[in-house]
Amino acid sequence: MADVTFTVDGKKLTAPAGTLLIDACKSAGIEIPAFCYYPGLSLQAACRMCVVRLEKVPKLQTACTTPVAEGMVVQTETPEIVQARKATLQLLLGNHPLDCPVCDAGGECELQDMTFKYGAAESFYAEPKNHREEQKWSPVVYFDRPRCILCYRCVRMCGEGMDVFALGIQNRGSSSVIAPNVPADLTPDHLAHVDCEQCGMCIDACPVGALTSGTYRYKTRPWEMNHVATTCTHCGDGCKTTLGVRSTSDGSEIVRGDNRDKSGINGDFLCNKGRYAFDFANNDDRITQPLVRQSNGEFKPVSWEEAFDYVGKRLRELRDTRGGKSIGVIGGNRLTNEEAYLLQKFARTVVGTNNIDHHRTADYVSFAQALAGQTNRTASLRDTLTAPAILLVGGDPTNQAPGTAWNIRTNVRNNRARLYVVNSAEIKLRRQAKAFVRLAPFGYGALAGYLAGDNAAGSSAVTDVNALSTFRDTVKAEENLLILIGSELRGAELKKLIEFGLSIPGAKFALLADYANSRGAADMGLLPDMLPGYTPVSSSNTFAEYNAPAEAGLDMLEIFDAAGRGELSALYVVGSNPVARYSVDPAALKDTFVVVQEMFLTETAALADVILPAANLYEKSGSVTNSYGDLQQVKKAGDRAGVRTDFEMIVRIADKMGADMRKLVPFGKGLRADMGQSRGAQSGEADRHAIWLTANNLEPKLSPFDPYAILDEIQRLVPGYNVLRLQLLSGNDQHLQPAASGLVQIGNRRDLVLPANDTLFTSGTLGRYSAMLNDVQQYQANQPLIQIQAAD
Ligand code: SF4
Ligand code: SF4
Ligand code: SF4
Ligand code: FES
Repeated sequence: MADVTFTVDGKKLTAPAGTLLIDACKSAGIEIPAFCYYPGLSLQAACRMCVVRLEKVPKLQTACTTPVAEGMVVQTETPEIVQARKATLQLLLGNHPLDCPVCDAGGECELQDMTFKYGAAESFYAEPKNHREEQKWSPVVYFDRPRCILCYRCVRMCGEGMDVFALGIQNRGSSSVIAPNVPADLTPDHLAHVDCEQCGMCIDACPVGALTSGTYRYKTRPWEMNHVATTCTHCGDGCKTTLGVRSTSDGSEIVRGDNRDKSGINGDFLCNKGRYAFDFANNDDRITQPLVRQSNGEFKPVSWEEAFDYVGKRLRELRDTRGGKSIGVIGGNRLTNEEAYLLQKFARTVVGTNNIDHHRTADYVSFAQALAGQTNRTASLRDTLTAPAILLVGGDPTNQAPGTAWNIRTNVRNNRARLYVVNSAEIKLRRQAKAFVRLAPFGYGALAGYLAGDNAAGSSAVTDVNALSTFRDTVKAEENLLILIGSELRGAELKKLIEFGLSIPGAKFALLADYANSRGAADMGLLPDMLPGYTPVSSSNTFAEYNAPAEAGLDMLEIFDAAGRGELSALYVVGSNPVARYSVDPAALKDTFVVVQEMFLTETAALADVILPAANLYEKSGSVTNSYGDLQQVKKAGDRAGVRTDFEMIVRIADKMGADMRKLVPFGKGLRADMGQSRGAQSGEADRHAIWLTANNLEPKLSPFDPYAILDEIQRLVPGYNVLRLQLLSGNDQHLQPAASGLVQIGNRRDLVLPANDTLFTSGTLGRYSAMLNDVQQYQANQPLIQIQAAD
């Protein structure tokens, strides 16, 4: 829209016609107070805090509902306006408990801030306050009615934002009250509840402390926490999150997951897991001492030095006597990129094997190959917020990639994006779809064939081929289509779908996987036939310095088959639970020396000869790559005494095996530089200096345990990882393009993709140890009226 020029508080401003005055002012640095307004949600005009004076208009007007217009003259802060806002606050405070000293929102409360600014703490209303007991609506959502200022943000957030509609308004006028969707008289405990996705978005949007979370309430004050911006560890979306951390006697504890920094790829969103399921890290079942199995079969705690010594010597001996190819290495989807890279380098250069794999949750090898040689054909998660049209084939983002689902809903709602959904199930996102095609079970291959031009395949994909034909024509006519692909599509079928998409001008693709670094694990070469960047092991000039075996190694299942035949001398598992995931017969490993780096006694760890207690993604630094190829930083937030990062453990074991440390991790480079003052008033400046030095490769990498030492090598060697370090280190996301060589295609390896099929309330091993997720699951099971089923 054309720009218009208008005047606010004497300043000339321009903004596109139609922009809301409140937003136009904010962009120009003029903050207009607001309670009910929430960007992206429908307008409510309920609170009247945003009143302003428009020239030639008799009454004060609400800035949140007034679009800017040419020549408009506005005053935002006159005595008359201040008085009006003060009166509004006095009304709001009339029945407000003013329990700021104990309220969770104290220090972060918009009502508190406004009261401070407008000085309305004294009230005309001296009537006794109408007290109501707090209500527990679910394990994570609590409601304190007297604190509610009836802005209706929560109702709109849940309905419009989440498409859940679990909250509504009861009664009228001053008796209005926010009410959940499961009434008290229909529940076994005679208390009202919410039947919902437990995302906490309503709590986040609430400007006061009326909605609070079951995991954080009354635990601490906001100013007593350190706030660490990092990346969620749960699903493949990789939402940016801020963790609230406080000190404990044995390290530090994460007490809150939040989205204070709304600059991330997820905008305002966090789902239930991102917001609350950090609690696995605080679980008492964490292993915090290295354990070595004794001859009587029991585990004995040993010192770290003993453990490294034992593991290093034994692996060296087995490599030297039975050969590196008798050893298998399995990595995880929640290692950092630096750890995954180091692990495969360790396997290939220290052990001398390509027997390396990970639990694959999507076929990134075929994805990279299908897009080899293309530029600007991969989408970032940010594109889901702006693309004019989206085709979603397979997958169920509401459950498996909630950030993606949020972005799509927001895009459809605010930009009228056209969503096309093809799925063999009635997934929830079909409610936003302009067209939905219900596929026959296992019909994805036939669909891909049909879309790519094989008309005969249509009848195997759907019952109504004519409707599918119209659908294909409509989708083909779209420009700048974003094609999101679920993990159902693999190998040749995935390539066919991409072939179809490539015929659409400007189409971009993303392949959705399950875990925080599923994509990074594949990109970094945790594969038996691919070096990092999907470089085939057989044709590697780039990685010539590795001097690694040129023939493909054993894949995940072949490793266990070899163990069953007594041919696997050792297995090194880092952050993965293949025994449970692939239903491995424990007897298969009886003759194999097994080392497992883990947080908990998983099924795989229980079979180990040595368990090394590992830090999780919230307890270390590095980078991860989400399903879309967006690279982000993870920063150490929590700390647990007794655990170590996988990076450090791999280095220590390699050292004990006699590896050349400087070859494995190129540390010791960089220049010494004055880091400036690191404490007190200038500490922010020192932080900025440190980030700049690191980004420009000037900081000394004094330790082989420094993940940024290996990042240099990733940047240098891994196709597609030409990372902008300053961007990464400043906490911003950056989109990377896969850069597979198009020349060499892998042969016909079997399909090893095994989707995790996680839901809103499960998250692999982490979910099993999250008390919150277990509570929510139990809550759902115990409430007969609760409809949202995790497995839907
Ligand atoms: S937690 Fe999420 S789904 Fe539940 S009521 Fe709040 S906004 Fe709605
Ligand atoms: S609970 Fe919070 S968000 Fe909802 S209406 Fe009340 S004050 Fe607003
Ligand atoms: S959508 Fe995924 S990455 Fe985002 S908060 Fe939820 S689990 Fe974490
Ligand atoms: S913010 Fe404008 S009326 Fe509430």
